[in-house]
Amino acid sequence: MRTALCGKNWIHLEKTDSTNRFLLDGDFPEGTVATADLQTKGRGRQGKSWVCAPCGQALYLSVIFRSFNAGDFGFLPLICAVAAAKAYGGTMIKWPNDILVNEKKVGGILCESKILGGSAVAVCGIGLNLSQPQEFFADNNLPWAASLFSCGKDLLTPKHAAVLFLNELEPCITTYRLSGFGSFLPFYRDRCVTLGRKVVLERCGRAVTATACDIGEKGELVCESGGETFFVTAGEVSVRGLYGYA
Ligand code: BTN
Repeated sequence: MRTALCGKNWIHLEKTDSTNRFLLDGDFPEGTVATADLQTKGRGRQGKSWVCAPCGQALYLSVIFRSFNAGDFGFLPLICAVAAAKAYGGTMIKWPNDILVNEKKVGGILCESKILGGSAVAVCGIGLNLSQPQEFFADNNLPWAASLFSCGKDLLTPKHAAVLFLNELEPCITTYRLSGFGSFLPFYRDRCVTLGRKVVLERCGRAVTATACDIGEKGELVCESGGETFFVTAGEVSVRGLYGYA
């Protein structure tokens, strides 16, 4: 491990409901990492659940940050996506923070936060599919998902995958604190499969088709539709490719 902060305090649980929930409900120091072999109520974005794989086939990891302002929270999922894309070679990002290989989702990121007595706490969680066979995703009705190994990438243990991620996340957090999100834009744009594609934005039950043309300074997806340009904020909508998941 090359980190000074992330994972110095590392709690490994055989089973928990959610590593995000575990850290959010506790009182842990900055940089504490929680991992689990199994999650019984893994949380996904937009209120969805995150399916649990047999022990050892996936990574479930959360890390706590206490020193951010609430205004920084929106950037954390994007920074985590950058860290994951750096950690796992050959991966791409579907805006805002899905990790893809060959257009299939191999990982997801959920950042949650709470404000307690004036102090802000953020928990960043990553779920990464390491070695489930393709039938696992078919059986769980996840046709757009895959594991790194099923996509021809190296076979990683959860521990190894965790160290790779944390080794990238910590310097990304430092860079963000020093220079803001703008310094990630070239890398993010380069690894983002969404750009240049036709997307369907699902907003309050309404579907809008648009072209995703850029990532804004605040991490928004810049879209064009019917001659109009608009900024889409993560969390506000779900984005699907017109011709597939991405
Ligand atoms: C997504 O929906 O794409 C985000 C999934 C995030 C799952 C991870 S697994 C570790 C952490 N604990 C949770 O309950 N969720 C996140």
